Amino acid sequence: MIPLTGYTDRLSAALGERIAFKVSSTAAGPYRASLARIVHADPNPAGPGVKVEDLADRFSIEHPSRAQPLHLGSYARVDGAAALRLSGPLTVAVLIWPTRAAPGEQCVLSRWDETTGAGWALSLGPGGVTARIGVPGGAPLVLATGRPVTLRQWYRVWLVADPAARALRGGQAALGGGRREEVSASLPPGARLDAAAPLLVGARLAPGAREHFNGKVEDPLLLAGAAAAPEALVLDPLLPLEGLVAGWDFSRSIDGLDVVDVGPHRLGGRLVNLPTRAVTGARWTGREMCWRHAPREYAAIHFHEDDLYDAGWATDFDFTVPENLPSGAYVMRLAAEGHVDELPFYVRSPRGRPRADVLFIASTYTYQAYANHARGNTDAAFRVRMAAWGAYPHNPDDHPENGRSTYNRHRDGSGICYSSRLRPVLTFRPRYLTFLDARGSGLRHYSADTHLLDWLEAHSIAFDVVTDEDVDAEGVALLTRYTTVLTGSHPEYHTARTLDAHQGYLDGGGRLVYLGGNGFYWRIATSPTVPGVIEVRRAEGGIRAWDAQVGEYYHALDGAYGGLWRRNGRPPQQIAAVGFSAQGLFEGSPYRRQPGAEDPRAAWIMAGVDDKVIGDFGLSGGGAAGFELDRADPALGTPAGAIVVASSEGHGPSFVVVPEELLSHISTVSGEKPARLLRADMTYVELPGGGAVFAVGSITFCGSLSHNRYDNNVSRILRNLVDRFRKARTKGAA
Ligand SMILES: [Fe+2]
Repeated sequence: MIPLTGYTDRLSAALGERIAFKVSSTAAGPYRASLARIVHADPNPAGPGVKVEDLADRFSIEHPSRAQPLHLGSYARVDGAAALRLSGPLTVAVLIWPTRAAPGEQCVLSRWDETTGAGWALSLGPGGVTARIGVPGGAPLVLATGRPVTLRQWYRVWLVADPAARALRGGQAALGGGRREEVSASLPPGARLDAAAPLLVGARLAPGAREHFNGKVEDPLLLAGAAAAPEALVLDPLLPLEGLVAGWDFSRSIDGLDVVDVGPHRLGGRLVNLPTRAVTGARWTGREMCWRHAPREYAAIHFHEDDLYDAGWATDFDFTVPENLPSGAYVMRLAAEGHVDELPFYVRSPRGRPRADVLFIASTYTYQAYANHARGNTDAAFRVRMAAWGAYPHNPDDHPENGRSTYNRHRDGSGICYSSRLRPVLTFRPRYLTFLDARGSGLRHYSADTHLLDWLEAHSIAFDVVTDEDVDAEGVALLTRYTTVLTGSHPEYHTARTLDAHQGYLDGGGRLVYLGGNGFYWRIATSPTVPGVIEVRRAEGGIRAWDAQVGEYYHALDGAYGGLWRRNGRPPQQIAAVGFSAQGLFEGSPYRRQPGAEDPRAAWIMAGVDDKVIGDFGLSGGGAAGFELDRADPALGTPAGAIVVASSEGHGPSFVVVPEELLSHISTVSGEKPARLLRADMTYVELPGGGAVFAVGSITFCGSLSHNRYDNNVSRILRNLVDRFRKARTKGAA
């Protein structure tokens, strides 16, 4: 656990709005919290260095330290079950699809009171299914079938206890006529089934939730009576089961956190730590691929021992944005006993009152998708650099307790499809290094985007900042107030609403400067009922960290088809003029000037730039065109009249064409040779509505801006763009 860290309830706020800070500090004494503004977050001594404006005079407090815990692992909690009074025989049955062989017990279903030692639990252990019965004042009775289950296969498992007959049975049967195992034992005299405790699906309360289950669970049910053949029990809302006490139909409310009991007591429950819904269940036939079309085929929930949603920390203090605090990137700097952490947030201009004509959209959805991305690359050499540069000292490789990213897998091997920002996010910090970059700083995302913010300051260009979430919430009206909208280095993740806002802005005459690569790529879902979370399904194709399982391509949160926007009919080229074409290691190459640079419509972009080679320098991979490259392609939506003013070249052997452009190892969708697609196109296009797009098509572009004290051909090109775009007016601009 990191000694001093925290998170905020929101990522941006305007004048008069309040941000809550949730802090955990293990220090003995109080910590100090003070405001600072982030200008440049790159600690590389070869660049301008870290620039932070200390604003402790605007906000500084001391607060007593308290440690706040992090609890990984998802489960469903049914508090209403605590009031159940069941004295006779009990049958507990449930379908499971286990995904992880663990040394300990993984609890599927339980009603357990650790303080009295009463209750029952149905679990999976190394020796198969386990039935546990509480014996207050003594050791519990634990009965195992002794036969391990096969992972990723459906089983019905059960526990049947009859206190009067002093009999206990536990069993498992593979679905589809597979092997059945049942064992029995005598219940000891003091055994007590009935516990005044909540029922948990996927964990056991002892006293906190533990023994988390890894895998899918479907149709858990409780029956009053000792069923002779529990494997034959079927939860069907249309055919009520004799003696049903409770049965949870997970095909209800798939888009939320509630679990619905179809039994007589309506013992509804609530999911904790966001297990995955909209997953194929035991009844899935393949006839439908969307859970909305056949919900009972999607009646399973996939629990993971390492799920984390809202860390749930208490608020230590609030900060209200005061008058005359310029829009920008800020941090709350926490310090105690030699430990420091800086929690980022953005200050917006006052509502309805832009204070600049240039807007930077912080790619917070992308920052969130990568939140706590453990890359396994923190070797000794990387750690030496982190220490030598005074970089952010913590890395997700060392801190699984904060949960991981949508670029990681769960411990059971399944892909992580949700990411919450309501937890400490180590990758979202100033001075955070992502790569041991041989020729540069190795920054990405939040810190990399300060290359642009620093450049704006160095050129005295006033700007406002909003986040992806702001654009999602407020739409095109938020953008039309500005003549010029700038993206960061990697605006990769978008909702339908953020795409609509960009499109509407351009249609209305807005001017977009897309300063990244692999932008506008993945579709994500959000939901007001699960705030602070994004969902991504890595469906079909694209550069993927894992593959969504067949039949699980539709988001749980909004029911939409997940995956690439290109597979949803909206390729990046439609908005950004360019789209993902090639990827390699974090290495940058230069662009070469193209004939389009002499086109009278675009010649002004190169004013003052006579060089044939552009951007053969920089703090990101050593060159302006690198890592992830986008190209123009009219077949994918690059607007008519687009002009390529420069294209990159000379990419190293690590660069490959992205999968969605390949038909085979030698042929491509476009019909061009694969090697031709290894390029970024610096592209300019004027749109029919008076709008315009300038795209660089490279993640590493902004790393070149500060070279030679901000006097270089990359810097000059961006300056030409911003100067020109700012002079134009946007319909509806302030
Ligand atoms: Fe990415």
